[in-house]
Amino acid sequence: MRQTSQISKLTSLSAGFLALSLTVFCASFSASALANDAMPAAPAAEAVKPEVPGKPKSDPAAGEALYSNGDVSRGVVACVSCHGANGKSASGTWPKLAAQHAAYTAKQLKNFKEGTRANPVMMGMAAALTEQDMVNIAAYMAKQEPSLGVAQNKETIELGQSIYRGGIAAKGVPACAACHSPTGAGIPAQYPRLSGQWAEYSTAQLMAFREGVRKNSAQMTIIATKLSDQEMKAVADYMAGLH
Ligand code: HEC
Ligand code: HEC
Repeated sequence: MRQTSQISKLTSLSAGFLALSLTVFCASFSASALANDAMPAAPAAEAVKPEVPGKPKSDPAAGEALYSNGDVSRGVVACVSCHGANGKSASGTWPKLAAQHAAYTAKQLKNFKEGTRANPVMMGMAAALTEQDMVNIAAYMAKQEPSLGVAQNKETIELGQSIYRGGIAAKGVPACAACHSPTGAGIPAQYPRLSGQWAEYSTAQLMAFREGVRKNSAQMTIIATKLSDQEMKAVADYMAGLH
């Protein structure tokens, strides 16, 4: 497809440049983090522990059963009805969950239950889940193949790419790639995969962070506050085709 080949061309052209600009970005990022403690911390500074002591051990098979069938006796709705077989949802109303980092997915379910991520549909779904259910489903989703997508809007690909890779210096917006990785695969455990996600969903999340509906990440709230609707849509569309 034309768009896909255009994206891969853009990607390979700027791969070398990216490594350079990421290094430059990280240097300037730490400098500005020192100057302003409201700035989010760079990921490299944070230790990543895959096994958290005192947390339940995951059982992906139990997660698969609950994801696919729900549990009527406990009021758990089958996740598959919206999020699709293997976490590959059919439309941008429902996010893809396939190949997402387990710790991130479990955190989101907890946040829905606590209400720091205020989505009426998912607050209802998560209310019926125990912490063990959350960890199990998250482990099952993390084992699925990533679901790829395609950017739809040719006019905004360049803008989206420049925001993703370089941020917007004039507005103090950091490069998304610094935390979500150059390919959009994310960095376990805190930084989620964005690659291939429906643009409609990613745009809605950026807006939810900006409007304070999603209050579960100070880092993302600061960043989203600085983005216009047009910039959000451009970067979300670019991420949909990124891999
Ligand atoms: C009726 C449809 C529906 C069902 C059923 C459903 N979800 Fe969701 N889910 C949604 C919607 C809509 C969102 C986006 C919420 C938002 O905008 O914050 C979502 C978001 C999520 C997210 C956040 C994804 C991310 O990238 O941050 C997770 C995790 C999730 N759902 C897990 C589940 C699990 C586990 C189940 C089954 C127990 C489930 N969902 C059942 C509709 C549904
Ligand atoms: C300083 C690190 C950092 C940077 C830079 C960053 N993010 Fe994030 N982002 C995060 C974290 C952490 C989360 C997960 C928040 C949570 O736990 O709910 C996140 C979550 C998201 C989500 C929600 C994903 C989902 O599945 O719901 C989107 C969309 C997103 N970021 C887009 C962006 C975009 C676009 C940029 C660049 C303009 C960006 N991020 C830059 C740290 C960062």
